[in-house]
Amino acid sequence: MQTNKAQRENWGTRFGFLMAATGSAVGLGNIWRFPYITGENGGSAFIIIYLLCIIAIGLSIMIAEFAVGRRTSLSAVGAYKSQNENWTFAGALGVLSAFFIMGFYPVVGGWSLAYVFKSATGLLAAPEAISSAFDAFAGATIEPLIWTIIYMVINVIIVAKGISGGIEKASKVLMPALFALLVIVIIKGINLPGASEGLAYLFKPDWSQVTGGTVLAALGQSFFTLSLGMGCMITYGSYLGKQERIPADATSVVAMDTMVAIMAGLAIFPALFAFGMEPTAGPGLVFVVVPAIFAHMGNVGPLISITFFAALTVAALTSSMSLLEVAVSYLIDEKKMNRKTATYLSAGIMTVMCILSSLSMGSLSGIKLFGVNFFDFFDILTDKIFLAIGGMLLTIFVGWFMRKEDLKNEITNNGTLPFGLFGVWYNIVKYVIPVVIAVVAIAGIAAIEQKSLMLFGLLVIVLLGVFSRKL
Ligand code: TRP
Repeated sequence: MQTNKAQRENWGTRFGFLMAATGSAVGLGNIWRFPYITGENGGSAFIIIYLLCIIAIGLSIMIAEFAVGRRTSLSAVGAYKSQNENWTFAGALGVLSAFFIMGFYPVVGGWSLAYVFKSATGLLAAPEAISSAFDAFAGATIEPLIWTIIYMVINVIIVAKGISGGIEKASKVLMPALFALLVIVIIKGINLPGASEGLAYLFKPDWSQVTGGTVLAALGQSFFTLSLGMGCMITYGSYLGKQERIPADATSVVAMDTMVAIMAGLAIFPALFAFGMEPTAGPGLVFVVVPAIFAHMGNVGPLISITFFAALTVAALTSSMSLLEVAVSYLIDEKKMNRKTATYLSAGIMTVMCILSSLSMGSLSGIKLFGVNFFDFFDILTDKIFLAIGGMLLTIFVGWFMRKEDLKNEITNNGTLPFGLFGVWYNIVKYVIPVVIAVVAIAGIAAIEQKSLMLFGLLVIVLLGVFSRKL
C-alpha cells in the first residue's frame, strides 16, 4: 500500500466537503463554457441531451468516483493501481487530463480576474466597444499573461498549504453571492425588449441541428461541468469520512451544478438576443454579453460587474484548485514528493502550457497542432475525448473489476444506509454507461472536424496503456 489510511487527511465537516466538491463542479464550465457550447450547438435540443447525460450518466459516475476514492483512500493513479496494476493507465490518463485542462483553464480564470478590475476602470462606459475590447484584450501578448500568472499564483498558494479554511470561507460567501447576482442578471435580461427570442432559443428544441457531434459535445460538457472522468472526484472522495452518505452528497453536487448552468443560460441568452448579438460568439461570450447588460444598469453597473466577475473568479478558483490537486496528490501518493514541491512542479508545467494557450489567441495564432491552436488543442482533447474515455474506463473498472459486495458496503456505509437504487446504479455502471459512451464516442468522433486530433488522442491513451507500469 502506498499510503497509510490512518494518516490521510479528512474533510472537516460534511458541509466543508460539499462546498469543496460543489466548488470543484461549479466553475467556468457552468458560466463561461455552458452558454457558448449551447450557442455553438443550436440551443435547447443540446440542453435536453445535456440534461439526459447529467442524470443518466453523470450522477452514476460521480457516485462511482466517490466510492472508489473513499474505498482506496488514494488519488487517481493509486486508486486504480492498488486494485489492479493493469489499470494504472486509467489513473494516469486522469492526471494527464488534469495537466491539459490546466493548460487553458487558468487563462480564462485570468480573463475573469482581469474583468474584476476592468469593470471598475471604464469598461462599461463604452458599451458599444465591449466586444472589440474583449478581442483586443484576449489577443494581446503581455496583459492576459500577467493575469493568468497572478491567477495561477493564487492557486499555488492555496494548494501548497493543503486544503485550508481560507478558500472554503471565501466560497461560502462568494458562491451565494454569485447565485444572487445571477438572479439579478436574469431578471434584468428577461425584461429587456426582444428577450423572448432568447427564451425560445433556450426552451424550444430544434432537433434538425442535432448530429453525432452534438451528442458528443453534450456528453463532454456533462463530464467537464461535473469534474468527472479524470479522477478528480476520486481524489476528493479519498478524503471523505466513512460516515458520509455518498449517494445524497453526489445528488446535491449534481443538482447545484445543473442549477447554476441553467441560470447562466437564462442570464445570457435573453439579453444576447435583445442586444442582437450572435449566440455563436464562442469563448468570449460571457465576457461580452454580461458586461453589456451591466452597462445598461446605470450607476450600480460597475459595482455589480465587479462583484459578478469576482464571484466568477472564485468559482473558477475552487475548480482549478481541484484540478491542480489531482496532479499534486498523484505526486505525493505515488512519487512521495512533499506537497510544496509537488505543487510548484505541477503548477510550473501548467503555467508554461497556459502561456502557449494565451498567446495562441494572438501572436501565436498561426501555430496549429492537428489543425487547431494550443488553447483548442488542450480544450478539445480533454473535453471531447479524454474525459469521456476516462469515464468509460472508470465504469468498466468499477463494474467488472471491483467486487460488487465491496461497492455495496462502500456506498451504503456497510449496510447502515438504505440505498434502494443500488442494483439500478450497479447495472447502469456495469452495462449501460460503457456502451453508451462507446457509441457516442464513435458517432461523435466520426462527425467531428478535427479527426487527426481525435486519432492523436486515442494514440496517447494507447501509449499510456503500454507504458503505465512505470507510473
Ligand atoms: N467542473 C469545473 C467547471 O465546470 C472544471 C473542473 C474541475 C473539471 N475539475 C475538473 C473538469 C475535473 C473536468 C475534470 O468549471
